[in-house]
Amino acid sequence: MTDMKIDFDRIIERKNTNCVKYDGMAASFGSNDLLPLWVADMDFAVPEEVSAAVAKRAEHPIYGYNTFPEGYYEAFAAWEKKRHGWDVAPEWVCHTPGVLAALSNAILAFTEKGDGILIQPPVYFPFKSTIEALDRKVINNQLIYKDGCFTMDFDGLEEKARQAKLFIFCSPHNPSGRVWTREELKRVEEICRKNDLLVFSDEIHSDIVYAPHQHTVFAQLSDWAREHSIVAMAPSKTFNIAGLEMSHITIPNDAMRTRYQYLLRCGLHAENANACGIPAAQAAYEHGEEWYQQLLQYLQANIDYIDAALKEQIPQVRLVRPEATYIPLLDMGALGMTSDGLKDFLIREVGAALNAGSAFGPGGEQFMRINVATQRVRLETFVTRLREALDRRK
Ligand SMILES: Cc1ncc(COP(=O)(O)O)c(C=O)c1O
Repeated sequence: MTDMKIDFDRIIERKNTNCVKYDGMAASFGSNDLLPLWVADMDFAVPEEVSAAVAKRAEHPIYGYNTFPEGYYEAFAAWEKKRHGWDVAPEWVCHTPGVLAALSNAILAFTEKGDGILIQPPVYFPFKSTIEALDRKVINNQLIYKDGCFTMDFDGLEEKARQAKLFIFCSPHNPSGRVWTREELKRVEEICRKNDLLVFSDEIHSDIVYAPHQHTVFAQLSDWAREHSIVAMAPSKTFNIAGLEMSHITIPNDAMRTRYQYLLRCGLHAENANACGIPAAQAAYEHGEEWYQQLLQYLQANIDYIDAALKEQIPQVRLVRPEATYIPLLDMGALGMTSDGLKDFLIREVGAALNAGSAFGPGGEQFMRINVATQRVRLETFVTRLREALDRRK
């Protein structure tokens, strides 16, 4: 792309950096030599200001316990105000190493063993395993897939909300790629309010949203939503710094925040922050805007490429066009394979590592999730290999 200052096409060798996507591939796929299109991190270098902030901190040779500098939470709040028009009071924000650690902490803080926790599969798979590991009960309200798009089953939600204490709401939704509209969110809010259902709103993907779609923060919807939600965000997906383990968990309700923080400090002992993560996240929010805008352009172009290439060359495989996230679904239902068969076909015949849709729960069986946050040339290789593998089967 001609107006790009940042070279997202540059291939950066990631092997032997202890990264899950490349070095951990064999553990999940039986080989380290597949085209790596799984795990939700990006094959792109972070903004220069972020690397510089990490390098500067790393130069100091002591990596002890940490505190947050003045201006840190203000940087996050300013980003949120600009991105989503959300007025976050810095004192509402609790540092937690990751969104999943926050989810565990919230489940322990606000529910009891045996309580029902509502999720909407196909959805990010650790939601289910976290609920089960903590001895709570999974209540599924499956999304509806029709005409190449996912929507919520509001009748099901009405009914299941009565049985649940907490709703883990994925917004934008991984893996459907949906950005819930304001109208959809209002209906969710109404159902939760009627049933006194607490909401853990996982908004980790809220910065990776493609125009003209617009993300609305759940806590912004109403006074009730603000007082009954935990909003989980992070710089990790936006700026590719998941390995630095920083997330921002916003709990506007004072009593809920006190309970959450007590458990974080005294039960989980998870309040310390990564020495390099603090300056990295602050630099990203303060100086990452230009990089971020170009990233969105590059991702959008990759999505357009995959969509067009499939339509042209492999029309039996369809991209579920994402409104958000860089990890959309490929609908491979027309190939007539089982979900295990699909995963196997991609590994053995295409030579590619993608996440199986079945891992995301009921409704995911006919899909594979592809990570498009990689160099265009890798996506081109994927399309070619997929087409050739299907031709060989004819
Ligand atoms: C919806 C969702 N929530 C949480 C996470 C993980 O967040 P963390 O690494 O902060 O625990 C991911 C990662 O892909 C995700 O897609």
